[in-house]
Amino acid sequence: MSSPQSGIFALGTAAHAYLEFDVSSGRAGAELVPAISSLREPRTTMGGVNLVAGFRPELWHEVAPDEAPAGLHGFNGDIIGRDGFAMPATQHDAVLWLSGSAYDVVFEVARKAIAELAPAASVAAETSSWPYRHDRDLTGFIDGTENPTLNDAPSLILIPEGSPGAGGTILLLQKWVHDASAWEALAVETQERVIGRRKLDSLELEEKATDSHVASTDQDRFGKIFRRNMPYGTVTDHGTMFVGFSSEQGPLSTMLESMAGLAGGARDALTMYTRALTGAYYFVPSTDSLRRIATIRQRS
Ligand code: HEM
Repeated sequence: MSSPQSGIFALGTAAHAYLEFDVSSGRAGAELVPAISSLREPRTTMGGVNLVAGFRPELWHEVAPDEAPAGLHGFNGDIIGRDGFAMPATQHDAVLWLSGSAYDVVFEVARKAIAELAPAASVAAETSSWPYRHDRDLTGFIDGTENPTLNDAPSLILIPEGSPGAGGTILLLQKWVHDASAWEALAVETQERVIGRRKLDSLELEEKATDSHVASTDQDRFGKIFRRNMPYGTVTDHGTMFVGFSSEQGPLSTMLESMAGLAGGARDALTMYTRALTGAYYFVPSTDSLRRIATIRQRS
C-alpha cells in the first residue's frame, strides 16, 4: 500500500505558503526531483510543518517513468474561454506547499528549503495564505462544503494501487484575484445566485442557475475532487488560491473548460468577479516514490 503525502489531508492549519520553482539555467531538471525528494524526511517533523511536494508532470515522467500516470501533462497553454475570458498557463517545474500552525514556522522551513534547493532551482512564484472566518473564502461564502470527507477523500483522489503513480495525486494550483468592489456591490441574493448556495449556511439553492459556480463545477458531472482552497493576499489585493486534487486530470481540466464556457454551457458567473492569474498542474507522488528517489540519490 503506497502512502500519500499526508499534508494533503492535514486540515485546520493557520498558515500556508506555496513556492513554485524553476530549474536554474544550465542545470538538469532531473537534479531537482531527487533534491526535493530528499527534503521531506527531516522537514515534516520540524516545527510541525506539513510539506507537500509536486513536480511538473513532464519532469516527473523523465525521472520516474514507471511511476508516472499515463497522459498526464502540464498546464502548457492558456485556456481561452468565452468573451475573451482567459486562464493563463504559468507552469513551473516544481511546487512546495507548506502549512503549519503559524506563519513563523512556515517561513523558517520555507527559507531552509529554498536554501537547500539552490543553486539547482530558484523560486519563480510565491504566495502565502491564511484562513478567513474559519472556512470561508474571500467572497464570504463557505468553501469546501461539497468536499469529500477525510474518510472518503483518499480513495477518491489518490491513484489506486496497481496503477503507475499509485498513492500519488494530481494537483491543480491556480491563483484567482477577486474584484472585491464589484462583488461586494452585489446584493447577497445575487451573490447566492452566482455561487448556487446560500451565503450564511452554504445550503444549496433549490433552483440553481445554469451559470452558477456549483453548476459549472458539478462533481456529479465532472468527477470528484478534493479542494484545499485558501484566501491569499493583502487588504487591497486578494483572492483565492485554488488547490484541487484528483486521481485523474480530466475532472480538473474539464471543470476549468466548463468555467470558461467551453463545455457546451454558459461561462461561470463567478468568473465575472474573479480572474485567474496563474495555472499549473503538478504530480504529487506518494511518500514511497519520494523515498525511493531520495535513496537512489544518497547512494550515488
Ligand atoms: C475564485 C476562485 C474560486 C472560488 C472563490 C470558489 C468558491 C467556491 C464556493 C464558495 C463553492 C460552494 C461551496 C462548496 O461546495 O465548496 C465552490 C464549489 C466548488 N468549486 Fe469552486 N471556487 C473557485 C474556483 C474553482 C475552480 C478553479 C474549480 C475547479 C477547477 C472549482 C471547483 C469547485 C467544485 C468542484 C465545487 C463543488 C461543486 C459541487 O457542488 O459538486 N472552484 N467553490
